[in-house]
Amino acid sequence: MKINIKTDLITKISCDVITLGIDDKNRIIDSSKLNKKTVSYLNNVLALGDISEKFGSARVVHGDHFYPKVLLIRIGNPKTLASDQLYSVILTIANELKSLKFKTLLLPINQFINASLSSHAVAEYSVRGLIDASYVINSLKTLNQVKRNIFQTIIHYSGSDLNQVKTGIKYGEAVMEGGNLTKDLGNLPPNICTPKYLASVATKLGKEYKFKVSIFDQKKIEKLKMGSFLAVAKGSREEPRFITIEHNKGPKNQKPIVLVGKGITFDAGGISIKPSADMDEMKYDMGGAASVMGVMKTVGALNLPLNIIAIIPSCENLPDGLALKPGDIVTSMSGQTIEVLNTDAEGRLILCDALTYAERYKPETVIDIATLTGACVIGLGHHATGLFSNYDPLSTELEVAGIRALDKAWKMPLWEEYQPQLNSNFADMANIGGRAGGSITAACFLSRFAKKFNWAHLDIAGTAWKSGKEKGSTGRPVPLLSQFLIKRAGK
Ligand code: BES
Ligand code: MN
Ligand code: ZN
Repeated sequence: MKINIKTDLITKISCDVITLGIDDKNRIIDSSKLNKKTVSYLNNVLALGDISEKFGSARVVHGDHFYPKVLLIRIGNPKTLASDQLYSVILTIANELKSLKFKTLLLPINQFINASLSSHAVAEYSVRGLIDASYVINSLKTLNQVKRNIFQTIIHYSGSDLNQVKTGIKYGEAVMEGGNLTKDLGNLPPNICTPKYLASVATKLGKEYKFKVSIFDQKKIEKLKMGSFLAVAKGSREEPRFITIEHNKGPKNQKPIVLVGKGITFDAGGISIKPSADMDEMKYDMGGAASVMGVMKTVGALNLPLNIIAIIPSCENLPDGLALKPGDIVTSMSGQTIEVLNTDAEGRLILCDALTYAERYKPETVIDIATLTGACVIGLGHHATGLFSNYDPLSTELEVAGIRALDKAWKMPLWEEYQPQLNSNFADMANIGGRAGGSITAACFLSRFAKKFNWAHLDIAGTAWKSGKEKGSTGRPVPLLSQFLIKRAGK
């Protein structure tokens, strides 16, 4: 999507469709800037009463020679329009446009700006929403392939904050560039999106944004003694890959922020095999890895002045004659031993070695992102990402970033009381802690490998994916993480 900004008189800009909000008094918002004839015509249309009074109701009507089509949408009282409401309005606009033939959209943004929605925020949410909703799955359909409608959006703005609007547009575009990569990777089938494939995407990102990318193969991973990660990879014919991506654009002596993403490209459960219904969806068990790659794309596009390291352990979790078995005891890279009571709790087994590996960067902060537990979906549903941390200021920072980015995370406990559920009679710990508080004991397990740094864990099992009719990757939590990093960069 091409996005331009124009500041000319709105009556001087021609387009195919203009989007105009209607307020709670049934008036066109900001109508004084529009052509009088257009306004009186639209008032007559409104008077016909065909547009439901509900917030977000929209209708496309024929316009005049200047604006051949007008998309009218109810936004209630513009003074109290909130960020999540604006985002839903933008999504509705983008969805209404899908059935139209047109090339240029004119979106005047002054109508949405108020005391709590700055010009920067409105520009950013608008751009993000338009790109988000226009996403088309890059599917392998040979028939009825949905075509991407590539249209041009003209953001119209009048006021003194032009630079703010420009930055808002830039951030919105960069966040969605990352988010779309995350969606693309999550939507790919597991026979294409393998550990090797993820590695090739990392290499490509490296070339595009001058990241330092390292790809470790089986042998190198063995040398590093990542016994826990390798144990999961054993049951698969696809070789594991351990991927690191480094963006070193911060001050030389600044400790890096490390992002660790779970990259299970297919989770059948291993010997503790999953039921077959909906097992196909376990192709998105690399959602953590995909979001880390997405964020790196955003970071690269914005060239954020930070030191950021992405770490992605990637393999498949399959049953096989050589696969990891319940009862096996593995030695992690940290030296701690783990009794594997359920091979389906594999995410923590690959992440623990990645967390230990992160120590060598002497990180300022480590955040891991993982589709870790079904229990998190039961607890929080599909709206909030589960947030766990051993450092309160960090969890607060992430909560705030999530709210700002409309990509919320909800803090869960990580108390000592839960730790004994991981006790084992045979090893330092078991890899499962029973049904009670399943997402918490999973986080407790990881915390044992994160003692040397400030760390947060995001369980995205419920938020990275949609099931049902809209089945597919959501691109979350790229907005949250991007916002966190943008803030860290002091922007
Ligand atoms: N990848 C799954 C978690 C998951 C479940 C993600 C549903 C998305 C939707 C993870 O590897 C897993 O299988 N976890 C088990 C852990 C259990 C065996 C302790 C689970 O949640 O059932
Ligand atoms: Mn599993
Ligand atoms: Zn898994």
